[in-house]
Amino acid sequence: MNICIIGTGYVGLVTGACFADFGVNVVCVDKDAEKIHTLNRGEIPIYEPGLKEIVDKNVKERRLAFTTDIGDGIRRSLAVLIAVGTPPRGDGSTDLSYIEEVSRTIAANLNGYKVVVTKSTVPVGTGRFIEKIIAEERKETHLFDVASNPEFLREGSAVEDFMRPNRVVIGARSGQAVAILKDLHAPLYLIETPFVITDIETAELIKYASNAFLATKISFINEIANLCEKTGADVHVVARAMGLDRRIGPKFLHPGPGYGGSCLPKDTTALLNIAKNAGYDFKIMEAVIEVNRRQRGRMMEKIRKAAGKLRGATIGVWGLTFKPNTDDIRESPAIDIINGLVGEGAKIKAYDPAGMKNAASVLPDTVVYSQDPYEAASGSDCLVIATEWNLFRQIDMERVKGLLKHPRVVDLRNVYDPEVMGKRGFEYTGVGR
Ligand code: UGA
Repeated sequence: MNICIIGTGYVGLVTGACFADFGVNVVCVDKDAEKIHTLNRGEIPIYEPGLKEIVDKNVKERRLAFTTDIGDGIRRSLAVLIAVGTPPRGDGSTDLSYIEEVSRTIAANLNGYKVVVTKSTVPVGTGRFIEKIIAEERKETHLFDVASNPEFLREGSAVEDFMRPNRVVIGARSGQAVAILKDLHAPLYLIETPFVITDIETAELIKYASNAFLATKISFINEIANLCEKTGADVHVVARAMGLDRRIGPKFLHPGPGYGGSCLPKDTTALLNIAKNAGYDFKIMEAVIEVNRRQRGRMMEKIRKAAGKLRGATIGVWGLTFKPNTDDIRESPAIDIINGLVGEGAKIKAYDPAGMKNAASVLPDTVVYSQDPYEAASGSDCLVIATEWNLFRQIDMERVKGLLKHPRVVDLRNVYDPEVMGKRGFEYTGVGR
């Protein structure tokens, strides 16, 4: 089968490379010539473990190609997957202008039956919107179907998530579209992946409901953590015991500075907006977003309290990305917290294994970037752990104690054990313990 993926960002690139690895002929197209040029030079524009190997292999075996020629990509493909950006607008709605533009291009290049699939996270009703544009603008009356096939990839483990998904969701109105999409995912049948076949609107909503529920779990455990701090309970033991109930499950019950990244914040806001437009007052979603916002403020209070005074103090910060194993700093709690600290007159010495280049483009120029975690701790009045990179678990904390001006650690990800840290002579603050 020949397929074309429009948009070679994070989702498009991972999806394209993985489908090629399934044995499909994939052409990834993007209007950004620089990006296509980079990919054709064998370089990967994003940080994603395992992606380069799979791209290299499939390019070499001639199943994966990159081009800016969108029309040609569409014309030679049976399935056209849309993976362009759907950024939020200021008012909480979703900007569908790229989707609209791509739909027009598909209409102009329709030269036979095709199934047009949305991979991007799109508001409920977008499938119909695409259908309408293509039906109105196609030059000849070639048949086509629109389908929704949302992705559930996590940054940092996207290749693994693609190859071993918990489920595949296919939303379509025609049996032919479902059959083609099933065929595309054929290798996943061998590992008995559950398939959910449904209508387009339901598939579109599944994506938002899934991300919103994950966000709800995080905000919920953060509220429990805050309550633990007031009552003397330990949130880790609470979360572990809760998670042992199979109806609840152990994942996404780790307390911290709140969720970040390019998906959970955007999708929760978008879902609230979808509900508003549908005339539904979605109370839980509102609270989840508000709790997440407030959690950043609570982290600031912890640092203020630990550091004594922020004006003139030097704060070492370990971790800048929104989570480990990525260089992505979008909506990262660490970035908000550093901006807050700088705003209150603190000097920052930061270290992150992958995110420093991206962080430097958004943080104030006064932030100093260190070679390693020890350098960031050296001479600091207080050390803040903002992202739980594994590297930060393998640190010589005796050495860190000697380097800090005061042995104060504010651990926003509960990387360390409060008791052990106390015994080592640290003034230690965690979350909910
Ligand atoms: C998320 C979803 O997990 C994916 O299933 C989905 O496909 C993706 O969004 C998307 O829509 O494309 P991702 O943004 O890569 O994936 O990150 P997550 O691993 O979900 O983490 C999000 C945030 O929640 C991070 O800031 C993380 O630190 C935080 N988190 C996660 C917690 O604070 N506690 C937890 O227990 C888990």
